[in-house]
Amino acid sequence: MSLYQLFLSNGPSGFGYGSTADEVTESLSLAGKTLLVTGCNSGLGRETLRVLALRGARVLGTARTLEKAREACQAVGGQAVPLACDLSEPVSVRACAAAVANEGIVLDAILCNAGIMALPKLSCAYGYELQFFTNHIGHFILVTGLLEQLSETGRVVMLSSSAHRMAPKGGVELDNLDGGRGYTGWRAYAQSKFANILFAKELARRFAGTERTANAVHPGVILTGISRHLNPVVRALQGAIVPLFFKTVPQGAATQVYVATHPALAGVSGKYFADCNETSPRPDAEDAAKARELWDVSENIAAATLGGRAA
Ligand SMILES: NC(=O)c1ccc[n+]([C@@H]2O[C@H](COP(=O)([O-])OP(=O)(O)OC[C@H]3O[C@@H](n4cnc5c(N)ncnc54)[C@H](OP(=O)(O)O)[C@@H]3O)[C@@H](O)[C@H]2O)c1
Repeated sequence: MSLYQLFLSNGPSGFGYGSTADEVTESLSLAGKTLLVTGCNSGLGRETLRVLALRGARVLGTARTLEKAREACQAVGGQAVPLACDLSEPVSVRACAAAVANEGIVLDAILCNAGIMALPKLSCAYGYELQFFTNHIGHFILVTGLLEQLSETGRVVMLSSSAHRMAPKGGVELDNLDGGRGYTGWRAYAQSKFANILFAKELARRFAGTERTANAVHPGVILTGISRHLNPVVRALQGAIVPLFFKTVPQGAATQVYVATHPALAGVSGKYFADCNETSPRPDAEDAAKARELWDVSENIAAATLGGRAA
C-alpha cells in the first residue's frame, strides 16, 4: 500500500486506487468465459492472467515468444493456453489471430495489455516508430483480426496511460509516424498511448448497436519491467518514491480486469477508466474524426505489412 492511497476513497463503482484485481472480481465466476491477454509474461499482464484464471476463466496468454507464454501459463495453472504474438511483427500477430480462429475459440474479452515505454533511441519497424508500431499497430492488427472471434457481448480493453496527456498537439502526429521529424522517447510513448484511446473510441463507434464494447484504461503507476529503458538515475529515484505514490502490481491490474469482466459495465463503451472508475482523457482524445482518421491510417499501415518486412 502506498502512502498516497491513505488519502483516497473509492469512487462510484465501489472500487478505487487501492483496489486489487482479486478484489474487483471477488464476487464473480468467470467459468465458461474465455479472455485473451497480451504481454502475459510480465507485470500487469501476468497478474491479470492469474486472477482471470483464478476466477475460472479459460485464458489465452500471449507473449513475444511461445516459450515466454508457456512459462507464464504454466505458472497460472487452470485453463491457460499459451500463444506467441510479437506485436512488432505482423506475421506473428496474424498467426496468433489465425490460431485462435482455427480452434474456433469465442472470446469474451481481449485485453491489449502489452507495451513498451520510452525507448531512449529512435527504433523503427516497417518504417514506423517502434512504440507506435508495437503498442498501437500490433494491437490494431490483432484486434481487427480477432473481431470474428469476439462474442456478441465481447469486450476489448486497451491499456493506455495517463502519459497520453503528454502526447504532441493533436495526439498523434500522422505526418511524423517514422519519428524522423524529431523524436523523444516519452513523447513517442505518449503518442502511442493516445492512439490506444483513439482506437478504443473508433472501435466503440463501430460496435454501436451491438452489445460489444471497447474501452481504454490507465492502470496507475506501478514498478514493473516497463521502466527498463529509463536511465539508472531516474530508476533509482523511482525506487525511492515507490512506497509513497506507486500502486502494487495487484492494484495495477485491477482496472483492466474490472473493465474486462465486471457485470456493472455491460454495454459501457467508448470510455476511459482509471482507478476502476470512468474518468476523462485529454479532451482531444474524444475527437471522433481523429479516431476515424487514425483507423484509416492504421488499416493502410497494416495492409502494407502484408508483404513482409520492408527493407
Ligand atoms: N507500469 C506502469 O506504471 C504503467 C503505467 C501506465 C500504463 N502502463 C501500461 O500497462 C501495460 C503493461 O505494462 P507493465 O507495467 O506490466 O510492463 P511490463 O512488465 O514491461 O510488461 C509489458 C509486457 O509487454 C510485452 N511486450 C513488449 N513488447 C512486446 C512485443 N513486441 N510483442 C509482444 N509483447 C510485447 C512484454 O514482453 P517482454 O517481457 O518479452 O518484453 C511484457 O510482457 C503497458 O501497455 C503499459 O504501457 C503501465
